[in-house]
Amino acid sequence: MILVTGGAGFIGANFVLDWLACSSEPVVNLDKLTYAGNLHNLRSLEGDARHVFVQGDIGDTALVARLLAEHQPRAVINFAAESHVDRSIHGPEDFIQTNVVGTFRLLEAVRKHWSGLDASDKGVFRFLHVSTDEVYGSLAATDPAFTEQHPFEPNSPYSASKAASDHLVRAWHHTYGLPVLTTNCSNNYGPYHFPEKLIPLMIVNALAGKPLPVYGDGMQVRDWLYVKDHCSAIRRVLEAGRLGETYNVGGWNEKPNIEIVNTVCALLDELRPRADGQRYASQITYVTDRPGHDRRYAIDARKLEAELGWKPAETFDTGIRKTVEWYLAHADWVANVQTGAYREWVQTQYASAAQGTAA
Ligand code: NAD
Ligand code: DAU
Repeated sequence: MILVTGGAGFIGANFVLDWLACSSEPVVNLDKLTYAGNLHNLRSLEGDARHVFVQGDIGDTALVARLLAEHQPRAVINFAAESHVDRSIHGPEDFIQTNVVGTFRLLEAVRKHWSGLDASDKGVFRFLHVSTDEVYGSLAATDPAFTEQHPFEPNSPYSASKAASDHLVRAWHHTYGLPVLTTNCSNNYGPYHFPEKLIPLMIVNALAGKPLPVYGDGMQVRDWLYVKDHCSAIRRVLEAGRLGETYNVGGWNEKPNIEIVNTVCALLDELRPRADGQRYASQITYVTDRPGHDRRYAIDARKLEAELGWKPAETFDTGIRKTVEWYLAHADWVANVQTGAYREWVQTQYASAAQGTAA
């Protein structure tokens, strides 16, 4: 049995679905169900006794202690977080509460549980913390990609809160001997990605005939990894990672944002052409830049590849096609997540940014 936190969100849900597709080991899934958590992501597991869903907060020490005592997981995998940079700029408080205080409380509950295990259970127990490349800060165009030795230089409230959580995890290993592993991954994309993030937002807006808002000059670079490759990396690190180590996860797929948006538009032109014969790219609109926008991320994943033999299964071309096809086939999922709260967010974020120019 493993305990997953945040398993109703984008990466967590993909992880739980993949885990149960390739293993019979049950999963307890603790998720607060914030705006980003969605039980529809886990609909295919309804009636599957291997999946136990619990709605709750990683910061609820009593609840976490009870789950650990009741289910005796051999590992805890922490996906739970506030994850959207733009939201962290509008309102950092939730990011501090969940990503910093929540991780601290989770670590404490896990430490107390782990301390009481017998020697053999203690030996196999793992706490895997899922983190981001954003803790390393921003690269200039010709800088080498982030290695695990790169100093932490977080620039947004989100990345600062994730960096803080990574430091806590490290300290709980160094001071208390808690058997931790940390992964720092680049930008994910794929099924169940909430349409506040670049790729799903562009797909959803394009199909709705809305503007495609590109921040600033659109030349910021992100390093994209298909979500199922991130999940396979986490499984591999859990299985064979060295205790106390951090592993960068990435697929060597650096691309400027405008190229991503044009690729999405071209795929939609092919798979669902506009009724008026126009190109989706005509909907691209340059809008006011994100404050403090990191220019470039790039992950050097050689440690994970060399030490643990991990390789991504998808190229960007295969992954992005699968992703666009998934959104076209799941209009019901898209409609379901576009609640009143989602519409309010879009209004808050893009009404003020909209003094941009069409492409
Ligand atoms: P997400 O926002 O889609 O999902 C987060 C999940 O955590 C949601 O289901 C939410 O309900 C849950 N949650 C939030 N606060 C909680 C709390 N206090 N207690 C319990 N559950 C809570 O995020 P995601 O994109 O799936 O990211 C998952 C993890 O991976 C995060 O830690 C994020 O920092 C990290 N990460 C994300 C990316 C990416 O590209 N999305 C890349 C690298 C690392
Ligand atoms: O690098 C890993 C990180 O990737 C994760 O830790 C975060 O949880 C995840 O949200 C993601 O952060 P980004 O800020 O890179 O992702 P986002 O999809 O928000 O934006 C990707 C790029 O696209 C970024 O340079 C900002 C830009 N962008 C984004 C949106 C939402 C736009 O130009 N327009 C938009 O409307």
